[in-house]
Amino acid sequence: MLPVPDSAADATQQTLAAVEGLYDTYPFPPEPLLDEPPPGYNWRWNWITAYAFCAGLRPTHSAPRILDAGCGTGVGTEYLLHLNPEATITAIDLSSGALDVARERCRRSGKPGDDSRLTFRHMSLYDADQIPGEFDLINCVGVLHHLPDPVRGIQALAKKLAPGGIMHVFVYGELGRWEIQLMQEAIALIRNCPSDRAPDNPYEDGVKIGRDLFGALPEHSALVRREKERWSMENTKDECFADMYVHPQEVDYNVNTLFELIDAADLEFLGFSNPKTWTLDRLIDKAPHLIERAQQLSQRDRYRLIEILDPGSISHYEFFLARPPFTVTNWSNDETLLSAIPQLNPCLDGWPSQAFFNPDYQIVKPNELEFQFLQRCDANPGTQTVKQLVESLEIPDSSSFDLNNVRQLLAQQLLILNTSL
Ligand SMILES: C[S@@+](CC[C@H](N)C(=O)[O-])C[C@H]1O[C@@H](n2cnc3c(N)ncnc32)[C@H](O)[C@@H]1O
Repeated sequence: MLPVPDSAADATQQTLAAVEGLYDTYPFPPEPLLDEPPPGYNWRWNWITAYAFCAGLRPTHSAPRILDAGCGTGVGTEYLLHLNPEATITAIDLSSGALDVARERCRRSGKPGDDSRLTFRHMSLYDADQIPGEFDLINCVGVLHHLPDPVRGIQALAKKLAPGGIMHVFVYGELGRWEIQLMQEAIALIRNCPSDRAPDNPYEDGVKIGRDLFGALPEHSALVRREKERWSMENTKDECFADMYVHPQEVDYNVNTLFELIDAADLEFLGFSNPKTWTLDRLIDKAPHLIERAQQLSQRDRYRLIEILDPGSISHYEFFLARPPFTVTNWSNDETLLSAIPQLNPCLDGWPSQAFFNPDYQIVKPNELEFQFLQRCDANPGTQTVKQLVESLEIPDSSSFDLNNVRQLLAQQLLILNTSL
């Protein structure tokens, strides 16, 4: 008997092949390759900082196993490599073109440690079960929304997360991408009409149609205005333009559908990694009674309220998930905090100047005593307790420094705490 064709599997293969074709034509992101380590940091790619953000506590080891799922041209992989000199990293991608660039990028910037620290694999993240072992940190940025079945994708990754491990995910949000969806549809409609003048490559054809459309539309067109306001800087590069407007597969989320995806992973939601976006204060601080009333909402409904009140702005969700058991320490107990051992966050730029950049590259100017406390942490990394450091401060009679100051430094992500030995 002839085998029955599995049309769903065929459709999946066709979509994966189309996505691969896009990124083989336009490897993404198109950041230049450097002959030196990448500049600065993104704290989400620093294992110690990312883990401390999630758990409130320094991880017990500094040699994590990391999976970069859908690494593209390796911009994130390169940071993972340099920000975590003891880590072992596996980077996978569907596109061999993107992987070639990623390999070259990491080779040129020189990796600390030996060659066995980094492995690239040409494969779909659907097949993550073929990778041996489990991971302490999985990074999956800008990928799940391009899968034919994102639930299958996130479930495949969740199975590779070690107990107590964390996963950082970035997916698109529909409310901040409405104009992109419309332009994608317009380009697809025209592209599906045959033309003698069309290039052989459908993605190059799509980029040409899109650029011609933007050039032809009137200045006051909402599509042109949004493109100019938000995206045109990055879209001068065809790789970015294609990734945005000519993608063969994209699912955009809202808070409700996002949590359906998260629930399907059967992992714990630890929070957004851009928490300032998710506060009502930034939108309606003139109505504190409404903010207080909205405290009664579930966390998810509060998030939904925020995105509804800020339409057009939230174009992505970035968040951490954990595989239980995962304990979060909040340091509300004074005794526990006094006995904790602090260190400076490794993702600070400009320290020890009195004004420096925090992990989000915002400038911070600690007051005199906070600065003294940070200096003492820096001089005694991982050895003195909070109590010892506070007692060592030279505090003028007119001033004071207590545990609330320490908590504020912690809330600003300037400190990382460890439990006492
Ligand atoms: C927008 S790029 C993001 C690249 C990288 N994560 C970053 O943020 O710089 C998406 C990448 O996901 C890859 N990708 C898409 N579907 C995939 C799949 N099923 N398995 C593995 N990689 C996939 C693409 O080939 C592409 O390189």
